[in-house]
Amino acid sequence: MPVFNRHAMQPVPNLDEQARQDFVSSLRAHLSGRLMPGAYKVYENRVEPGFRAANGRPPHDHDEVRKAMTQDPFYQFWSAMQRRSQELLWESVIDPTERQLSKLIETSKAITRNAGGAGRGTLRLDPSLPLPRYHAAVDIHLQPGGYHTEFAEDDVAAGVVYDKGINLYMGGALGAENNLMGDILLAYLREKHPDFRPKKILDLGCAIGNSSVVWARAFPEAEVYGVDVAAPVLRYAHARAEALGVPVHFSQQNAERTDFAEASFDLVLSHIVLHETSKSALPRILGECHRLLSVEGLMLHLEIPRGKSIIEKFMHNWESYNNNETFSRFMTGIDLKAEAIKGHFAPERIVVDEFAPKLDVAQMNYAENFFWKILAARR
Ligand SMILES: C[S@@+](CC[C@H](N)C(=O)[O-])C[C@H]1O[C@@H](n2cnc3c(N)ncnc32)[C@H](O)[C@@H]1O
Repeated sequence: MPVFNRHAMQPVPNLDEQARQDFVSSLRAHLSGRLMPGAYKVYENRVEPGFRAANGRPPHDHDEVRKAMTQDPFYQFWSAMQRRSQELLWESVIDPTERQLSKLIETSKAITRNAGGAGRGTLRLDPSLPLPRYHAAVDIHLQPGGYHTEFAEDDVAAGVVYDKGINLYMGGALGAENNLMGDILLAYLREKHPDFRPKKILDLGCAIGNSSVVWARAFPEAEVYGVDVAAPVLRYAHARAEALGVPVHFSQQNAERTDFAEASFDLVLSHIVLHETSKSALPRILGECHRLLSVEGLMLHLEIPRGKSIIEKFMHNWESYNNNETFSRFMTGIDLKAEAIKGHFAPERIVVDEFAPKLDVAQMNYAENFFWKILAARR
């Protein structure tokens, strides 16, 4: 079962809850490792030849693949099971969280009361901050209430649930502290800019601060900030980072426009955030990165690969149609360089890279070769 480091902000599952989480983890490993590759075979051997016979040509794009694949019984079975496994996943984490929520909230409040001194992080919330429609309108990736819903006063539940949820979602492949995203982007920085030593780092859409902590550990002399629109994940992020002994300054802000001073950061980052925004928010966020960066400052965004062939693209877009990742199917076709230009970066300062880090991701069960998309630009 996925390794997951213990700290003060985690609920302890009882035996029944643990058994459910183990079941979900095994079910998902089976669906993605054993059944999902079958969908590619079905396309190759049945769906694509059928489409060709009917139309006298292969499908032009992933939307045409979608129309044909969604009629196929094997795909329908895998898709229905995948969706159900996602619902079971949240259920298996919500039960132990609900059972221990008041204790977790008290722990978070006690940690926050003692924070803020030398070498400690801070938390700044803004209850008046409007939630962007792209988060208010749906329960993102089917997490009940998304990142932002507060079920109790001073709630941390969304953060607790998300942390364990993504550990199960990826079968532990994100690492014992869900550190993989941060590790990959850090590996990219070290490979491409080995002498870069940031002094002030901003992590946009930091959620539970899992990646922010990676950067704070890697550059202990730097000040690290994390922003997110959602209060419960930020309360959890703060308490978690303090419990881990890592100083990070979290605040509730919209990455489209923050209250930080112009040119105040030399490294601005995001990890798997952009595909959860919107067509209009994306250039605004990149424009905000441009505003916040000092001269020669660096912006790095890590994004989920969207596949190369039309069948891979179609399979990636499953998340949009079935898992409430509404914007991610548009990201399949978006030109990130053009978006960064809209955000005022000079074309010659922008790089869009595919990066396959030499990290231990052996547990990942995905069918295609795993590479990550990175949008990098210098001010
Ligand atoms: C997939 S999670 C981020 C995961 C995390 N960065 C990591 O490294 O694993 C996306 C986060 O981005 C936040 N988010 C989305 N749009 C945002 C925006 N415009 N401003 C700030 N945060 C945003 C969401 O609330 C959510 O917590």
